Amino acid sequence: MCGIVGYIGSQEAQSILLDGLSKLEYRGYDSAGLAIYNGENIGFCKSQGRLADLKQKLETCLLPGNLGIGHTRWATHGKPSDENAHPHTDEQKMFAVVHNGIIENYAELKEELIAKGHVFTSETDTEVIAKLLSDHWDGSLVSTVQKVVQELRGAYALGIISEYEPDKLVAVRLASPLVIGVGKGENMIASDIPAILKYTRDVYLLDDGDMAVLTPDHVQLMRVDGTPIERETIQITWDVKQAEKDGYDHFMLKEINEQPRAIRDTLAGRIKKGRVDLSNELSISKEDLKNFERIHFVACGTAYHAGMIGKYVLEKLVRIPVEVDVASEYRYREPIVNERTLFVAISQSGETADTLAALKEAKRQGARILAITNVVGSSVAREADEVIITWAGPEIAVASTKAYTSQLIAVYLLGIYFAQMLETQSEQQLQTWVEELLQLPDKAASLLQPEQVEKVESYAREMSKHSSLFFIGRGLDYAVALEGSLKLKEISYIHSEAYAAGELKHGTLALIEEDVPVIALSTQKVLAEKTVSNVQEVKARGAYVLGVTNEADAELSKTADELISIPATLDLFAPVLAVIPLQLFAYYACLQRGFDVDKPRNLAKSVTVE
Ligand code: AGP
Repeated sequence: MCGIVGYIGSQEAQSILLDGLSKLEYRGYDSAGLAIYNGENIGFCKSQGRLADLKQKLETCLLPGNLGIGHTRWATHGKPSDENAHPHTDEQKMFAVVHNGIIENYAELKEELIAKGHVFTSETDTEVIAKLLSDHWDGSLVSTVQKVVQELRGAYALGIISEYEPDKLVAVRLASPLVIGVGKGENMIASDIPAILKYTRDVYLLDDGDMAVLTPDHVQLMRVDGTPIERETIQITWDVKQAEKDGYDHFMLKEINEQPRAIRDTLAGRIKKGRVDLSNELSISKEDLKNFERIHFVACGTAYHAGMIGKYVLEKLVRIPVEVDVASEYRYREPIVNERTLFVAISQSGETADTLAALKEAKRQGARILAITNVVGSSVAREADEVIITWAGPEIAVASTKAYTSQLIAVYLLGIYFAQMLETQSEQQLQTWVEELLQLPDKAASLLQPEQVEKVESYAREMSKHSSLFFIGRGLDYAVALEGSLKLKEISYIHSEAYAAGELKHGTLALIEEDVPVIALSTQKVLAEKTVSNVQEVKARGAYVLGVTNEADAELSKTADELISIPATLDLFAPVLAVIPLQLFAYYACLQRGFDVDKPRNLAKSVTVE
């Protein structure tokens, strides 16, 4: 997620802004920039790359002044570049804007502004805001900002300065975090608390629809419609390190809890009038789809498990044969690939060497390449013909969580979009899926409530005393069992196996004896009866079973020793919810065993070697 810092006061702004941005580097970014009012006009300095690159540029483009805004960009619209870096401005450079979030209607606004003669220099949605400020200028910065904000749809945190009123710094928040730091003779804005802790611990936390007008000696809070707000500041007691995790003990726990937002952001702007619309991102036509003989999902680790869900979803919805492969195996099985193959690479980082190598081989053999990745401008994204970005924001913990559920959302969107094009499903069925997709963020959030988390934590602390643990499931539950097992192994170092529940009796059942822990997933109505029989098989041999189910499988509650219930949803989407208790289970098992949650031994966040 982008980093925003703003300052107004008696000190030189440049060093304060750079220091604040450095405290936000953990959020991940690919470019940075500053805009500072120097007493006459606004000076800009922007650079692709790291803050160090920006600092180097600043040595030759000094920015004096004590009113300014700064930004570290995590690209969503437009590749990482100097031009796309924030702050953005209007043609006369009378305004400077930094933005965190997504302006869903930026394309239509941009068209209208171009028709009025505005000239754009970047690919970003943010530049539209700067042009709107110039276009709507009415002599007052506050009322102009209020008018512009009324036209924006989407999620945004904004920092705005203007040469017209250089005694003000304006901030607006809608669905992207923004805090106001209250100092003595100086005030600040930031997208996260670490950026301001060095200067003040007194902050206002803005709510959605809030606006703040900062001068050196005063902070005025109001709603975007101008209604004044009276609010007390809060005193931050965290230290900087803890503040980077938003108060969570670990990045992994923070990212597990970010999943409702990540799911919402990945859906944002891709469902219009009750239908999935990827036409802005994909150039695959109905004719192209009809031409595909096969689809290959290729990925590693957790992304591979998302690909397994993809196989199920695409074959069910689109009726095109789908193969799913571990990337490191793909090239060596001499896969049948040609121009009638759609190759789908799934990769959070977009830099995994195995996945990139498989992608290049498929491309060499003529396949159409589609990437599902969390990083705009990543190697996988650049090599692909088509890209679907998961808008999960930077994922810092080595164990992937919010990226995985966002990958599932991307796969569901792709399947429904293709099914719409090929008309392989009834309008009613498609509408049912789309409506339920939109319910998933809230349903995911319900699994993160304290009473739910405490329940999972208690099971994890108990079951993590074992040296080996089994996950079983059928169909989609089997793919989720694989992901749950990987989560547990990679951070708690407990040996674990995930098995297709129907496969146990063909060998692995021999390992089941008194007190062996088994986590059984049963969220698929059509498979519930058979899964319960498999659970009875392991119970009969003494296993201790923790069931994970929704209303699909009431029988499981009579068979399992303990039960975790997930909200009712369509079978197709159950993986998005069922995985959350498994992520939490792995997290608390790791804590119980005292290992490093965010940086497990032997592993890296992005495996850039084959
Ligand atoms: C997931 O928890 C692991 N850290 C790992 O399996 C990861 O999913 C895999 O390395 C693929 O990474 P990518 O999604 O960045 O390509």
